[in-house]
Amino acid sequence: MLRWRAPKPPVLSLLLIPAVAGVLLYVGWYSRPPFPNSSPSEGKVHVLLLSSWRSGSSFLGQVFNQHPDVFYLMEPGWHVWMSLQKGGARSLRMAVRDTIRSVFQCDMSVMDAYIPQPQNVSKLFMWSHSRALCSPPACFLTPRDEISKEQECKQQCDVQGLKLAEAACKTYSHVVLKEVRFFELESLYPLLRDPSLDLRIIHLVRDPRAVFRSRDQSAKALMKDSAIVLEQADVPENERSYQILQEICRSHVRIYETAMFKAPDFLRGRYKMIRYEDLVHNTLAEIEAMYQFVGLEMTESLQEWIYRITHGKGKGSKKEAFKITSRNAEDVSLAWRTTLPFEKVQRIQDVCKGAMSQLGYQAVDSEKEQKLMDLNVLTPRERYQFSWLPSKDTTAAKV
Ligand SMILES: *[C@@H]1O[C@H](CO)[C@@H](O)[C@H](O)[C@H]1NC(C)=O
Repeated sequence: MLRWRAPKPPVLSLLLIPAVAGVLLYVGWYSRPPFPNSSPSEGKVHVLLLSSWRSGSSFLGQVFNQHPDVFYLMEPGWHVWMSLQKGGARSLRMAVRDTIRSVFQCDMSVMDAYIPQPQNVSKLFMWSHSRALCSPPACFLTPRDEISKEQECKQQCDVQGLKLAEAACKTYSHVVLKEVRFFELESLYPLLRDPSLDLRIIHLVRDPRAVFRSRDQSAKALMKDSAIVLEQADVPENERSYQILQEICRSHVRIYETAMFKAPDFLRGRYKMIRYEDLVHNTLAEIEAMYQFVGLEMTESLQEWIYRITHGKGKGSKKEAFKITSRNAEDVSLAWRTTLPFEKVQRIQDVCKGAMSQLGYQAVDSEKEQKLMDLNVLTPRERYQFSWLPSKDTTAAKV
């Protein structure tokens, strides 16, 4: 059932524009469906969590995954990349795009190309983390409005075939997919123009120095992905991690600038950027803003759950899919300041210069500054909020 309703008619908010401050415009624009009641998406909303490796996208994903109106899957594009490993990101992006389009439409037949028989639900990437695959009608384990139990789901909810997953998908008002395999927005344009989809993009970014440190710790697990990001190029070992990070940083700038400064009409009102650091620092407010952006209502049990994860009161937390608390997420986010050698920090700041200034991460100029924890390297978020001008003009105005 679709719970969300347009908060006010568009005409009213247009009349209000001259009278009120930009902040209302900002809220008004984002909370309004871009094409009210004209979309044959049957009221369904499709949300793409667009991020990069080790940027906290699992954390963000859980925020949607646990919502009773959401069918959530992680990384459908993983199947594409793992099946077609010889390629580079560029040549695979349309296959990834078409895969997510099918999954948004609850058509899992696209997986025929990427998942060998028997196609059990358990073959879907990180399937047991998807609450909807552990809830009716996919599996009668977790009621839809309860927080998921990943371990039990893993043991009890595997079935042969993807038909039940398809059927489950169709019963939700929101389909949310997390994907780290897009490096630009243009390949998504056909999805934004597709009348059967009502796509919203949430772009999650994180301090590249924290990303680097986290990638360093899981370099092995990321090896196949890394080769694809580097287009299979033969890059010396000691240079690889910087070149990959550079690609990632460039992609964030590309995506952000396209959405903010040169967005075509069909992208307007459908893009929202969020920094991981703001999410873990100000969790409830940021989640509420994202829910509003995609038309989801906050529920009492979600609020409780968020309180629990942000206050580290993990009652039986070992059994939950989501173990880290925001509080230690914040500590982990700052670990680069004490553990990364300054030469590496300098190198990262160099390859990610553009992204850092665009997204509000300040460079440190010395080892002393790096280790000085009182020095905040995050530019306040307010300076990075924009709103669209009310005209058809594609330029964006700073609030
Ligand atoms: C697929 O699921 C069925 C039904 O739960 C199970 O019996 C079978 O062992 C699973 N097969 C694989 C390959 O996981």
